[in-house]
Amino acid sequence: MKLSLELEKKLREAALKQLEKGRTGWDIPHTLNSVEWMKKLIKHEGGNEKILITTMYLHDTGYPNIKKGYNFGTVKKHKAMHAEKGTKIAEEVLKKFKEFSSEEIKIITNLIKHHDDLEGLDTHERQLVFEADNLSKLDVENVTPTFNKENYSKFMKFQKEVRAPLFKTITGKKCLKRLIKKAEEYFQKM
Ligand SMILES: [Fe+2]
Ligand SMILES: [Fe+2]
Repeated sequence: MKLSLELEKKLREAALKQLEKGRTGWDIPHTLNSVEWMKKLIKHEGGNEKILITTMYLHDTGYPNIKKGYNFGTVKKHKAMHAEKGTKIAEEVLKKFKEFSSEEIKIITNLIKHHDDLEGLDTHERQLVFEADNLSKLDVENVTPTFNKENYSKFMKFQKEVRAPLFKTITGKKCLKRLIKKAEEYFQKM
């Protein structure tokens, strides 16, 4: 199902309002970029725009306001609960929209709840959410990393060893390879 421009605009506004309360310098650019990656994945791999793009706009609304200077460890600490918290926020936000049925809200919030789980990537939707999220995390040309060198090195190690092998779509894998190369170049210059 397509997502109308008008509904996307409203969603974007609602998401930004929540994301302003998140990690300084990261949650807004990362989220907007993850939406762009999702659009690209849907274009080549197929998928329901309304469900998947909405999921990306709201997937990281559960992060607390962590000011600049946070590290890989701080983020890891909040990671476990950010999906849970984001699920509740997304539900509240989407219930105010008359454009979403309760079934659609259920699907979206379930995708948000599990967007960071590395197990159970067994549906096309979950796979695309995982790939769009992680492509955005590595997209140094469009989203400036907020970690310092030491933390970026830990982040890259995790991305390459744990997350990269879980990519499945042809488009996702191809883009991931290019982004890792760019991210490594970025790291060398840090
Ligand atoms: Fe997340
Ligand atoms: Fe994310």
